[in-house]
Amino acid sequence: MDIIKTLEEELKAVKKQMDYLRSLEPSKRAATGAALNTRKKGIEEKLFSAQKEARVQEVNAKLAADKLVDITAPDLGAKRGHLHPITRVQREVEDVFASMGFIIEEGPEIATEFDNFDAVNVPANHPARDMQDTFWLSNGQVLKTHTSALQNALLRRYGPEFKAIFPGRCFRNEAVDASHENTFFQVEGMMVGKDISIANLIYFMQTALAAVFKKDVKVRLRPSYFPFVEPGFEFDAKCIICENGCSVCKKTGWVELGGCGMIHPNVLRMGGVDPTKYQGFAFGFGLPRLTMLKYGINEIRYFNSGNLEFLRSVK
Ligand code: DAH
Repeated sequence: MDIIKTLEEELKAVKKQMDYLRSLEPSKRAATGAALNTRKKGIEEKLFSAQKEARVQEVNAKLAADKLVDITAPDLGAKRGHLHPITRVQREVEDVFASMGFIIEEGPEIATEFDNFDAVNVPANHPARDMQDTFWLSNGQVLKTHTSALQNALLRRYGPEFKAIFPGRCFRNEAVDASHENTFFQVEGMMVGKDISIANLIYFMQTALAAVFKKDVKVRLRPSYFPFVEPGFEFDAKCIICENGCSVCKKTGWVELGGCGMIHPNVLRMGGVDPTKYQGFAFGFGLPRLTMLKYGINEIRYFNSGNLEFLRSVK
């Protein structure tokens, strides 16, 4: 910079001398004028290249300070992220049910005691409350023990004629083992309207399972008890992994996927739907079970393990 200043000063001085020259007799100007002119040109040239050099240095400093991304640098091996296997299966289930006209809904993970129990026909002190080990919150609400906790809200919002599925995370104070977790995903479904029967449920479930497993799956219903349905069933799918028994189906050839049934009249009534005019089916499935069956995984604890190597290997 200093050199630029010095040159600028010199230039100023030469220009001053040239101004002075103009007040002299023309005959006396010529020789001095030519010399001054040469000097001026020399200074200007030096100044120009000094300014150019200063500009180059300024730009270089700026570039060095900027963190440049070198798009030609080789890949340093950063791994791409991926969806959790349960998320993938959940999306497949959502897609196939959406394609059949079902609304996809989602509820809160904290539910009132009423929504989680009373509204699905599990009154206070009913022994069925003990079927689900509940995490109670200090304000009297619960960590949703099942996706059925959203049934009442949906009956009120969409009733008396609708079909919806609602996946969600559920929590139970379970003794954790290879097939039980305290935090897991379920997907619940309901169809309410006129002339609805279990045949409709079987049709939708078979279609959904065929989409998830990319092949036809045999299903069977076994009579069972759930307070929110009457009649109620356990829903099994023929094990798609083995022919004659493996560790996933515990050598029975069938895998229990969840429960289902015709919605109990009390549940409809509490949701503001007249059970003498309308009826419907409901089902609730564990998404981990479906995912385990799809990918041949026999240990539920992998899913929440944070073991990326395992999760990445599930294809
Ligand atoms: N809520 C039940 C559970 O978590 C599953 C279930 C069973 C849901 C039967 C339903 C049903 O809608 O009809 O164990």
